[in-house]
Amino acid sequence: MATTQRIKQILTAGQPGENLTIQGWVRTKRASKKFTFIEVNDGSSMNGLQVIASEDIPDYAAQMERIGTGASVEISGQLAESPGKGQRVELQAETIEVFGESDGETYPLQKKRHSFEFLRSIGHLRSRTNTLGAVFRVRDACAKAIHEFFSDRDFLWMHTPILTASDCEGAGEMFTVTRFNLDSIPTDAAGKADYSQDFFGKPAYLTVSGQLEAEIMAMAFSNVYTFGPTFRAENSNTARHLAEFWMVEPEMAFCNLEGNMDLAEAFLKHVFTRVLETCADDMAFFNKRIDDTVLATANNIINSDFERITYTEAIRLLTKAIDSGDKTFEYPVSWGIDLQSEHERYLAEELFKKPVIVTDYPAEIKAFYMRLNDDGKTVAAMDVLAPRIGEIIGGAQREERLDVLERRIEAASLPKEDYWWYLDLRRYGTVPHAGFGLGFERLVQFMTGMANIRDVIPFPRTPDNLDF
Ligand code: 4AD
Ligand code: MG
Repeated sequence: MATTQRIKQILTAGQPGENLTIQGWVRTKRASKKFTFIEVNDGSSMNGLQVIASEDIPDYAAQMERIGTGASVEISGQLAESPGKGQRVELQAETIEVFGESDGETYPLQKKRHSFEFLRSIGHLRSRTNTLGAVFRVRDACAKAIHEFFSDRDFLWMHTPILTASDCEGAGEMFTVTRFNLDSIPTDAAGKADYSQDFFGKPAYLTVSGQLEAEIMAMAFSNVYTFGPTFRAENSNTARHLAEFWMVEPEMAFCNLEGNMDLAEAFLKHVFTRVLETCADDMAFFNKRIDDTVLATANNIINSDFERITYTEAIRLLTKAIDSGDKTFEYPVSWGIDLQSEHERYLAEELFKKPVIVTDYPAEIKAFYMRLNDDGKTVAAMDVLAPRIGEIIGGAQREERLDVLERRIEAASLPKEDYWWYLDLRRYGTVPHAGFGLGFERLVQFMTGMANIRDVIPFPRTPDNLDF
């Protein structure tokens, strides 16, 4: 096969007169009498390259017959200045090889705009559209910016397991993993499933978070992060929840809540800055076609200091908004409630108009591992709330005191024996430490303005959806 150039490269740097070869998929085909205009896209950028095939090319009529939208082609020719609007250069085809034909009549992606809902039903083809193409390029740029951020700061990237025996969040939202034949599960004397006969000899699950293992590694390397898939069996059919999502979790030894907040803020600023640089065209597209606040939001993240308030203050502000008649909420507000998405969005979107970090939540509504504050009622938790999205990051300073942690595990009715190694970290060389988890898809949603989280992950897993 000929050496090819990526279309992105050609569009920005290609010179008229250059001979080159491209490979890609036909987006549109428009025939006039003696020419056919073919737009070819190879996924490297939003814009494709305009190709002009004249009747001089070998087998013109038959070739044009074979090329429908969606067909895969290799085209060689000479680059020329484009007389038409919309592109600087175009390719005058000399030879066209068709790898795979496509019947433009039945091809599910037609030139009109399709709903995102329809596109989800053709998950194997939707990445070939402008919007999903832009989303997945931005997703890639976010991931690279994240690794760059941590690498610059000397964090070690650690891979934490997907199969686990412990419930990090203690919320019981885990998917069970088993080798049992579900039609004949071995039982014990009490008639309950006998997990000693299962693959691991005990119940096993898909992890909800890599945090507990990240803490182990932070106790050896000081600063680490994990970036991997996590799973939640919560049955929330919302535009912000997935059953399988990716999480970025830094964990830092010798760090308190304030250092944790500082890192979270610097982290988001870095990722937004980088993506604006590397995906300028895609970001401009989102701003124009998806949500006209995308660029303003990105600049707001980069340039504003995040608001930092305590949970108690947040409840006061929400109560004030209700009492003054400024705002009504579906869910009632009082000290002790878990903040609902509508509350989070009010704070970030309407009141402060920028990200808000809420700290020191009531111990009762947060996970067992969060450090108990001196008031005995609240824990050193932090949630970063973003306009439009609500909670995008959840984190905490961890409980490093053995006796307090034991009490918290008991209070949460968790089986203490399962956490023996986690408690051991507090027996041998414990240190103040902190970390957080960023929902990667929520970040991509926030970045692109996409309304539904299912449209920012290539293959979404949600209740009743497991295709592709
Ligand atoms: O707040 P969460 O549950 O925190 C943890 O799991 C901690 N162990 C993280 C840590 O401290 N290392 O989840 C973290 C983030 C949330 O803020 C949210 O952005 C995202 O993960 N998230 C989800 N994203 C998509 N679909 C879901 N079902 C999600 N649940 C949480
Ligand atoms: Mg949370």
